[in-house]
Amino acid sequence: MVDTLTKLAYQTFQQGKATFGIAHKTLTTQLMSLVAPTAKSETETLSPDILRSLQQRLGVLTEQDLQDAEQGIYPAEMLFDNPWDDFFRYYPVVWMDIPTIWDRISAKQYQTFSPDIQTEGYPNYYVQNFHHQTNGYLSDMSANLYDLQVELLFNGTADAMRRRILAPMKQALSGISKPLLLDIACGTGRTLRFLRGAFPDASLYGVDLSPAYLRKANQLLSEIPGTLPQLLQANAEDLPYRDNYFHGVSSVFMFHELPPEARQRVIEECYRVLQPGGIFVICDSMQEEDSPEFAPMMRNFPAMFHEPYYRHYIQDNLGDRLQQAGFATVETKVHFVSKYWIARKAES
Ligand SMILES: C[S@@+](CC[C@H](N)C(=O)[O-])C[C@H]1O[C@@H](n2cnc3c(N)ncnc32)[C@H](O)[C@@H]1O
Repeated sequence: MVDTLTKLAYQTFQQGKATFGIAHKTLTTQLMSLVAPTAKSETETLSPDILRSLQQRLGVLTEQDLQDAEQGIYPAEMLFDNPWDDFFRYYPVVWMDIPTIWDRISAKQYQTFSPDIQTEGYPNYYVQNFHHQTNGYLSDMSANLYDLQVELLFNGTADAMRRRILAPMKQALSGISKPLLLDIACGTGRTLRFLRGAFPDASLYGVDLSPAYLRKANQLLSEIPGTLPQLLQANAEDLPYRDNYFHGVSSVFMFHELPPEARQRVIEECYRVLQPGGIFVICDSMQEEDSPEFAPMMRNFPAMFHEPYYRHYIQDNLGDRLQQAGFATVETKVHFVSKYWIARKAES
């Protein structure tokens, strides 16, 4: 049960994170126009209507997060889960990295890596400074800063959006006592952490292409009780698991960073490794068709953060792709600025 005090504390916690995120972005944007005007991207000013709708959607997201905890989908403590040590430790580093980022933006450099970073062996589409991150996904420092940067980007709502995959998974897997669950592109392991809270007896697996992010995931996940998820470095286009193995597969914030052909291959792989009756849940950015009023925001996103496949992604029909791969049913939902595809493989 979630009592009134917990509700108030959670609302205050979310409001605090939102205020901090907005203040950070305002400050960096103002500084950038003073210190590095050539790094400024072409972005549209958001109308008061858009800002009002965003605020309203944020309220609904917070309410939904509380409701799901109240219904026992995950423990209420998970609402407050946050890597505080890392946040305090790395916030100054976020600032120290900013001048280097501005230099790269001014020079229009989007695929720049330090000489000590190994870039061979990765798909070309992956070797990018996504979000202008120094060394892309390929350094330990990038992995240390990632969770904090995502929280700043989404004004503290990233985890609440990730947790929205849990209710459909819980519903689909209600009869299974020890489900086998895979999170693809697990990054630093936030989703695996939430899966552990919602499915304490599950066997958890995670894959990601980045060894640095997997190291970070291993560090953060070993802090929580329960069996450590099995983490593997792998391309989600070619999963190192046998056919019909998992009860559930999840993917959070990856599809917008893939070119279209890779999106299709990843979906086909997820279909292959799922058992008959299994569930695949994708959480990623909202798209143009279901949120046309937010089109200016969706245009701003790839202009502000290096996201080379995003423009295609927001018009891509992932429902068709899922059906082409063989999924029997596909349902979609939108929570705040994310969209969810809930796909089921037919029972054999
Ligand atoms: C935006 S991050 C999302 C990470 C995590 N799921 C989250 O919720 O924060 C994208 C992640 O996808 C991983 N990635 C991108 N392409 C991949 C691929 N083809 N196979 C496996 N991982 C991939 C990156 O290394 C990175 O960790």
